Amino acid sequence: MAASRLYSLIYSLLVLSVIRFSAATDPAWNGYTPSGSTTVTAFTPYWPAPGTISIDSKSPSIRYSGYWNELSSLKYVNGSSHSTSDTSASFSFSFVGDGIEWYGSSDRHHGPARVFIDGKLVETLDTKINSATPQVQQRLYAQYGLPQGEHTLKIENAKSTIDVDVLVVLGSSAASRSLPVFSENSIARRSSSSTQFTLHQKGNTGVAAMQLVVVSSTHALIVDKVEHNPLTIDGHPAWAALFNLKTGDLTPLQMKSNSFCAGGSFLSNGTLINVGGNPVVEDETNAADFGDEDGLQAVRLFHPCDENQSKCKIYESPSRIRMASPRWYPTVLRIEDGSAMIIGGAKKGGWINNATVNNPTIEYYPPKAIHGSNGLPIHLPFMVDTLNSNLFPIAISLPDGKVFVAANRDAMIYDWKTNTERRLPRIPNGVRVTYPMAGTGTLLPLTPDNDYTPEVMLCGGSTIDETRAGYDISSQEPASSQCSRLVLTDEGISKGWQVEQMPEPRVMPDMVLLPTGHIVVVNGAGSGISGYGNVKDQVGSCNSDNPVFTPAFYDPTAPAGQRFSSEDMPTSDIPRMYHSVASLTPEGDVIIAGSNPNLDRSEERYGTEYRVERLRPPYMGALRPELSVESTKIGFGEKFYLKTKTSKRQDVKVALMDLGFVTHANHANQRLVYLPFTTDDRGRIYASGPPNGGVYPPGPGWLYVIVDGVPSKGIKVIIGDGSGPKVDHDAINNILKHADAEKHA
Ligand SMILES: *[C@@H]1O[C@H](CO)[C@@H](O)[C@H](O)[C@H]1NC(C)=O
Ligand SMILES: *[C@@H]1O[C@H](CO)[C@@H](O)[C@H](O)[C@H]1NC(C)=O
Ligand SMILES: *[C@@H]1O[C@H](CO)[C@@H](O)[C@H](O)[C@H]1NC(C)=O
Ligand SMILES: *[C@@H]1O[C@H](CO)[C@@H](O)[C@H](O)[C@H]1NC(C)=O
Repeated sequence: MAASRLYSLIYSLLVLSVIRFSAATDPAWNGYTPSGSTTVTAFTPYWPAPGTISIDSKSPSIRYSGYWNELSSLKYVNGSSHSTSDTSASFSFSFVGDGIEWYGSSDRHHGPARVFIDGKLVETLDTKINSATPQVQQRLYAQYGLPQGEHTLKIENAKSTIDVDVLVVLGSSAASRSLPVFSENSIARRSSSSTQFTLHQKGNTGVAAMQLVVVSSTHALIVDKVEHNPLTIDGHPAWAALFNLKTGDLTPLQMKSNSFCAGGSFLSNGTLINVGGNPVVEDETNAADFGDEDGLQAVRLFHPCDENQSKCKIYESPSRIRMASPRWYPTVLRIEDGSAMIIGGAKKGGWINNATVNNPTIEYYPPKAIHGSNGLPIHLPFMVDTLNSNLFPIAISLPDGKVFVAANRDAMIYDWKTNTERRLPRIPNGVRVTYPMAGTGTLLPLTPDNDYTPEVMLCGGSTIDETRAGYDISSQEPASSQCSRLVLTDEGISKGWQVEQMPEPRVMPDMVLLPTGHIVVVNGAGSGISGYGNVKDQVGSCNSDNPVFTPAFYDPTAPAGQRFSSEDMPTSDIPRMYHSVASLTPEGDVIIAGSNPNLDRSEERYGTEYRVERLRPPYMGALRPELSVESTKIGFGEKFYLKTKTSKRQDVKVALMDLGFVTHANHANQRLVYLPFTTDDRGRIYASGPPNGGVYPPGPGWLYVIVDGVPSKGIKVIIGDGSGPKVDHDAINNILKHADAEKHA
């Protein structure tokens, strides 16, 4: 076929798919149709989260002074609103709680207001917007994180017209201690000591931290589902944000599709993909308000930008870039060729997986034309055999390029080049390790000392039988404390899983590798399972209870039975269960965020948690080694000079780390590879890049030098040549042609 004809064919395919998609999806935020109506209405940010108290403008507890009009219309909350054009008018309202929101109308006739809290002017804001028609139920002001207690809000009209429709009080009941805190209060839970771990609460995430990935030395990307988060963008709640790891500043990000519950990975060229999700959840949430797009087949691209965060955007173009099949709860893993393997998931959102909705396949991004698939999903029997508890399978790329996968009670090694499975011994003692009996897993540090022999460790989960019905399972059934290790050599496999116990049982734990080779286990619940709204004895709507507040420390090289300890660990008072995250930071401490076992933002126990904690290992208080490298691009096996100060007598290690993409206790790509190095007589260190893409899949990583047990700060590097994974245009076009890919799964 002549090239020009081929192009015109591709072009017409692209045009066709554009037309199909624009007809199938609603643009975000252009309006919504309230339930029971056919009229499209403008988005209204007012949404009283469960556990908050709404005060109507008619309430006698609001004291008006000056001349106010009472307005009646169904477009106002409870049919009424108050408005004033008297420039000496004000209202004041006293409440007990730790946050307050003011809702009213905005248009071009509205104007500035002065906001006082407890008698102090805190802000002058403008309720004017460039619109002739009033936008109703707009959030005009919000203040979170006040000291718990009695406060007074006073609003003065400063120039023309202001309205009040409704006020919302947050944190009024002592039971609902999970409020969005925007203040920078740093509470050291234990006196700073250089010999112990400490825990500090500092900053908040603005959007619930369901997914987190460190994208630069200064920022983490946080991705949530569509819900009424306090952080807004373009007049609507945001569901993704960049969190400044140093200052706590937030940059909301615009996202088109619903990223509930997506997975993600960097590709070899440093671009992050975030894939899968959910359609708009319309029932009960008012999420129809959001007018977002179906995220089930979404591939969202994000390229980190170190200098100017406002240049960083999430890119979505479903007509050109999408998966071949719908996936809710897929695992995404970077493999040895720098592409992403996308494993499993369900074809629609719901709860536990089952044969009707299961998507027992893998596909790749960019798509590959292998095993006769031409980009379409490749069937994986393992994902059928592991029903029902097999969402977010634990997947690890191995030094020989194959992929370890664990789901439910089983594990296997998948050879993606030959499309063959090697089943491994069953996980002992009936422990299930994937959603909703979620445990977590990691590759233990790889070292040249044993020629990068892989050993995996799975921790936590539950022995609850995944064939039981939700109404039969209780939030009070104990989680598992089991950790199981398996050396992935023939000898190790025949020896089988080696079992040990964590200090406390956990479902939904997060396991974080430290540059020192140690591991901390944080977050999770002592009983129940993942999710919300499914089991009996729900707490609020949470399927789990007995949050675990104390991190566990693990030394993988200590003798069995002496590896875990938690006596010297600080204890939190913030429950972190379903939709919680934790990750190592470039600085070397651990960021902990999230917990949201709710359909939408809630302040009832267990509420939506926005507070951030940092777990600081003892080395954070030590004198840290300095590290620099000449080039941040490191080729496979390439020798490079590492600038740092050490002496011959010191114990030195060079660690290359992938900090992973965490979603639902699944830490995709998390990895620690010790690099070989030589020291010359002047103490200069020459390290070698990892030998191949099996040992470290090409792509971004963090380099740390560890001197006498104290790591430097991490430096962002790119392993390999930085080029993108191979793109197969035929496979892409084949996917676009088969948009309705469910048939092909
Ligand atoms: C609106 O009216 C309903 C029914 O009278 C009441 O339950 C609700 O609390 C009111 N809302 C506000 C914000 O006052
Ligand atoms: C950052 O990027 C934005 C968007 O491109 C631009 O408007 C802004 O001026 C930039 N800021 C700086 C400090 O370069
Ligand atoms: C399978 O799961 C889906 C999604 O949760 C649910 O709607 C459906 O009822 C389930 N089917 C069976 C047979 O349990
Ligand atoms: C990286 O590769 C992906 C997949 O081909 C591509 O979509 C993306 O644009 C590339 N990123 C950059 C910065 O070129």
